[in-house]
Amino acid sequence: MPIEDQFDVPFIARMALKEKQVQQNYRPIIAVHKWFARRPGTLFRGLLLSEFGEGPVADAFFRSHTFPGIKVADPFMGGGTPLLEANRIGCDVIGFDINPMSAWIVHEEIEPLDLSAYHSTAEALLRFLDQKVGGLQTTCCTLCGHASASAKSYLWVKTLPCEECGRDVNLFPGFLVAKDRRHTKNVLLCPQCGELCEVDDLSDPGSCHVCHGVLSLEGVARKGHCNCHHCGRRNTYPRPDAGPPEHRMFAIEYHCHHCKVGHKGRFFKKPDPGDLEAYALAERQWQAMEARFVPVEDIPLGDETGRLHRWGYRRYRDMFNARQLLGLEWSARFIEKVGDARIRRALATNLSDLLRYQNMLCRYDVMALKALDIFSIHGFPVGLVQCESNLLGIANGRGVNVGSGGWRNIIDKYSKAKAYCDHPFEVDHRGSRKVQIPIHGEWIGEARLNGKAFSPRQVQLQCQSATTADLPENSLDAVFTDPPYFGNVQYGELMDFCFVWLKRLARDDLVRWGGDTSKHADELTGNATQARGLEHFTTGLSVVYSRMAKALKPGAPLAFTYHHNRLEAYGAVGVAILDAGLTCSTSIPCPAEMGGSIHIHGTGSSIVDTVFVCRKHGHVDARQLFYDTEQLLDIVDRDLEALRLGGVQPTLGDIRCILFGHLTRMGVWNLRKTWEPGLPVEQKLHRFTQALQWLPDFSRVLDRAGKEQDDDRHLGGLFAGRPFRSSSLEGNHAVSF
Ligand SMILES: C[S@@+](CC[C@H](N)C(=O)[O-])C[C@H]1O[C@@H](n2cnc3c(N)ncnc32)[C@H](O)[C@@H]1O
Ligand SMILES: [Zn+2]
Ligand SMILES: [Zn+2]
Ligand SMILES: [Zn+2]
Repeated sequence: MPIEDQFDVPFIARMALKEKQVQQNYRPIIAVHKWFARRPGTLFRGLLLSEFGEGPVADAFFRSHTFPGIKVADPFMGGGTPLLEANRIGCDVIGFDINPMSAWIVHEEIEPLDLSAYHSTAEALLRFLDQKVGGLQTTCCTLCGHASASAKSYLWVKTLPCEECGRDVNLFPGFLVAKDRRHTKNVLLCPQCGELCEVDDLSDPGSCHVCHGVLSLEGVARKGHCNCHHCGRRNTYPRPDAGPPEHRMFAIEYHCHHCKVGHKGRFFKKPDPGDLEAYALAERQWQAMEARFVPVEDIPLGDETGRLHRWGYRRYRDMFNARQLLGLEWSARFIEKVGDARIRRALATNLSDLLRYQNMLCRYDVMALKALDIFSIHGFPVGLVQCESNLLGIANGRGVNVGSGGWRNIIDKYSKAKAYCDHPFEVDHRGSRKVQIPIHGEWIGEARLNGKAFSPRQVQLQCQSATTADLPENSLDAVFTDPPYFGNVQYGELMDFCFVWLKRLARDDLVRWGGDTSKHADELTGNATQARGLEHFTTGLSVVYSRMAKALKPGAPLAFTYHHNRLEAYGAVGVAILDAGLTCSTSIPCPAEMGGSIHIHGTGSSIVDTVFVCRKHGHVDARQLFYDTEQLLDIVDRDLEALRLGGVQPTLGDIRCILFGHLTRMGVWNLRKTWEPGLPVEQKLHRFTQALQWLPDFSRVLDRAGKEQDDDRHLGGLFAGRPFRSSSLEGNHAVSF
């Protein structure tokens, strides 16, 4: 009952959409460590169950399954989503990734952990850190005067010395500290005296209650220029030659345990002398310390890291302030001494993940009033205002943490992730109710006692380029993967930020994964700095798919997700499928990114992936084949209808990706009999891209679909007003290949 017949687009779209809203609630396992562009686990569960299961996916989804002896590979395992889904239903799995962080993380996800032993060591770590640095992040509550309030977020603004008068210029891009959505009022910083003022109406902010100066939202730094507030000189930034940027603390959001009951909203304050002294003390302690775990590595120049260089960041350690470095060094020193190797690895993983919240590139969300981690977009965005979060995290005393990004939060998430391995569940939506359904009998791991029988499953993780994967012929029942999407994410460059720390803390444990760096020339991503273009990507993907295809049993699927907003990037996919001797039997739409995620929001980008299902032999539903534009549009209409049934509101970007997906599938279909894998890659790319353009009014389709703006007017020309003809194509028979 393979995917082509069984997959249920509305059902899986609905599940995937929900999952992507708060992925941790549906797949807590992802909290083991950050990985970029994780696809929804529910999508891969849907694919696996429609390939190997019985009956409708919507029923099978909430039942327990086990498929012993079925072997599934993922050549680009990343954070492990497809592998974990396969492992959970009892398949043997083999995963490859070129990045050592990937193998480390997937191994962490799969390896069992004694949770109570982990907890007691984690508690000991918290006590140790509290003793070493806890006092450096307390503050005096402005309401009750207690000095033991916990600083939740320190807000820092970048400063630079004025080119004229030499005094510090604060690069405020605006003066709004907090919106009144999560707090009772809007909080504005007074540009004159630096006081925090609570304001009802932002359109009429009035004057400062301390110095009576005029309040304003509008900042002073914009597009690389800022006038000096002392002498008026127009200064430019950034200044890379002056070294890493300097910062000045200007506001604190804190938590007061004494005042919390009865207090509405959050607590904000202007830093007082005690706060400045606490930081100065941290600086002195840090300077007096001989760090062993803080990396000394330079930040290599790259497509993403180029921005860091332009801001004067040269070494990874430049991205942290002294208090953060101090806290991280103490954390690492404790972890190094943990005797139990499994727990030491878990805590080292935690430290690595914590880094993304404990650095001076984190920003503060003035709406949600929380820190955004450094990877909230797939890059290293450098802001003018940065947020330092409490290192330990703040417990509210009732088992819940206040805020995010501290050790407590990481430990909590990690514990839930590992508990999920033994007790996985799915979340069903019944009306407005969410019901957690335990899936008894499924588990994530390598071996366990099931009653009295010992039931092992094979898990093989390889840190190597999948272009060198050497698998026996006819050994795989399926390949499910989520390959790099050409230039979308620079995995190696980004993960290096964590890897340089993990390498120091866990060198001996890391050795088994090989790889001295997270950056690798064979990474299959477009990268201008490394001069890796579409041809490199195509060649690599082609080699990987060919190797996988050779290892697949006859008729077994290679299914993968993909999306890109440029048609050229689909050329690589087409060439790779054809080179591998595969045919694409169907292309399925599925939401895979979060509409609200920062790098997607408002860009009109796609949140919908195409799942390409490929086989050497099989059949195609004749309704999937199209020979003119009308037929193509019918197919797209059907997809859009199915997505809408699943609650997705497709954007123009989504429609474009769906179109590209079908064009690519059909390009493969049309070329499959005459394809010459031996031609040079440029010629193959050219040939495939030409073949995508066989539709007589192809340019009209592309032109419509290519409009970048998320603007419904453009949809009009192509889709709106066309009668929906769900069965307009002849017949519904299957065509074999
Ligand atoms: C889209 S990610 C996979 C995400 C993953 N499915 C998940 O859920 O987290 C693609 C992965 O391909 C890896 N990769 C890039 N080039 C590779 C190569 N030549 N061999 C193996 N893996 C590679 C990257 O390191 C990255 O982890
Ligand atoms: Zn108080
Ligand atoms: Zn003032
Ligand atoms: Zn000046």
